[in-house]
Amino acid sequence: MPNGSRRAARRLAMPELPEAMFLESVRGLVRADRDWIPDAEEGSLYLRPFMFASGAFLGVRPSSQYVFAVIASAVGGYFKGGSPSVSLWVTREYVRAAPGGTGAAKCGGNYAASLIAQAEAIRHGCDQVVFLDAVERRWVEELGGMNVCFVFDDGSLQTPPLSDTILAGVTRDSLLRLASNIGVTVREEPYSIEQWEADARSGHLTEAFACGTAAVVTPIGSVKGAEGEFTIGGQSIGPLTMRLRSALVDIQRGAAPDPYGWVELVD
Ligand SMILES: Cc1ncc(COP(=O)(O)O)c(C=O)c1O
Repeated sequence: MPNGSRRAARRLAMPELPEAMFLESVRGLVRADRDWIPDAEEGSLYLRPFMFASGAFLGVRPSSQYVFAVIASAVGGYFKGGSPSVSLWVTREYVRAAPGGTGAAKCGGNYAASLIAQAEAIRHGCDQVVFLDAVERRWVEELGGMNVCFVFDDGSLQTPPLSDTILAGVTRDSLLRLASNIGVTVREEPYSIEQWEADARSGHLTEAFACGTAAVVTPIGSVKGAEGEFTIGGQSIGPLTMRLRSALVDIQRGAAPDPYGWVELVD
């Protein structure tokens, strides 16, 4: 298993699958389903490894038996609205994760906990929900299924630091490496919702984007909450957002060299 999956398994008292077995299962499914990989520019074969307890026992304890499986699905772009950017709703009522909890693990319960807030976002005409920290309810953590990054007028990039309440996305990690390798100053520091609004209004914040395997890099156009709404940058997609997105997608699609060893060809 990759490190993130291993950490998640440990947090959930589940067994860790040996890495070689994990990779071979993914390769096997890609070989079997290669004809389903879409040709479309935005298309991809989304792979979802998962594990669940299957022991025949009614009670609260780690299972003695688990099923590990990988499924694949041909997918297009994640956001279907036709707009180049997404709108966010800041939930004040719900939190996604609390210190000491399971927020850093990719477990079903986290998504179940986020769905009511996502429904709230949709009711307010927004695409996605943004979660604040559970303690002070002011520090931006992440979206329901994506990490979040901010770009400032001095060209620097900031993202909330990893903790046990934020999922350590591989896309976040890859973009931070790509950004610092092109000379961008990268900060992993807390960012409050008040500061986000003030910086967006003053123009100090010029771009913001969501990132994840499914969303890739998606610009954030506006942020709405009970107190009001603000927009970020202009109507067009910010230049650093575009640059990082292209750099990542070009590596993923083999259009640019991969000096990081992220890509594996399956024959
Ligand atoms: C809660 C959450 N945060 C962030 C991400 C982004 O992670 P990754 O870049 O590994 O896809 C995901 C992806 O599923 C997620 O579910």
